Amino acid sequence: MPNLVLTGFMGTGKTTVGKKLSGKLGMKLVDTDREIERVTGMTVNQIFKKHGEIRFRSEEKAAVKRIAKEDNQVISTGGGVVLDPENTTMLKENGIIICLTASPEVIYERVRRKKNRPLLQTEDPLGTINRLLNERAPFYRCADAVVDTSNRELDEVVGEVIRLFMEHK
Ligand code: S3P
Repeated sequence: MPNLVLTGFMGTGKTTVGKKLSGKLGMKLVDTDREIERVTGMTVNQIFKKHGEIRFRSEEKAAVKRIAKEDNQVISTGGGVVLDPENTTMLKENGIIICLTASPEVIYERVRRKKNRPLLQTEDPLGTINRLLNERAPFYRCADAVVDTSNRELDEVVGEVIRLFMEHK
């Protein structure tokens, strides 16, 4: 099987949907952020704080390079993976990209109590979400299919992702 790659903004459900998908499809689950943390021995927050975003992106690219070589995986990516077109190319070689979306308000509700997203630790997180969503819209369009997760049951979303994956594989 090719890889099933989940892209999309922070808080669109990549991790939750990825876990369920890997169980249902019997495919290994790989998460780019967890892989970066494993290799560096630091949390994503620590990398941003100590070394900055540029270093994080370079670790992220190295992780994508390693992960994309294998197949038969559900790959849950960090929300900024698609900002580097080479990452997208590597992920597409062995995989089908499904982009998860959600409205800015739903994203805000999902992330607002969590402190694990350095880019959203701002005075006005909803404003930041709107700005980043606008800036990133062209990059998320690289996906083979798009699934909205706003106000929908997990099982329904997972069912739709599987259907689209089977259509494209
Ligand atoms: C980021 C998203 C995060 C993580 C990092 C940067 C982004 O992953 O990779 O904080 O640039 O959108 P999630 O999308 O899993 O929150």
